[in-house]
Amino acid sequence: MDIKINITDRDGVTHEVDAPTDMNMNLMEVVRSYELAPEGTIGVCGGMAMCASCQCYVKSDHELPEKSDDEEAMLAEAFYVEDNSRLGCQIRITEDLDGLEVELAPES
Ligand code: FES
Repeated sequence: MDIKINITDRDGVTHEVDAPTDMNMNLMEVVRSYELAPEGTIGVCGGMAMCASCQCYVKSDHELPEKSDDEEAMLAEAFYVEDNSRLGCQIRITEDLDGLEVELAPES
């Protein structure tokens, strides 16, 4: 099935997009598939929690999977990190995330 996700891009424009729960996608891949950030500015490490180009701020109060040690470590080094920062590539699209609201962090 598809869920709805609200993604605010780096220009402050919010997009409501459909994201499939059955394709093993993560949030970074959804952003890329809708071209909501220029090629080369997101997903740089290919989703390995090693670049922080996919950082986003989680605006809704959805329960998200805990951060892995790799994600924690990357966010400890990244710029513009806030309490609600997550790495989009580490967030798998599941039915629980229907209605999720996120904002892309600035490019660093
Ligand atoms: S794509 Fe590099 S950390 Fe997410």
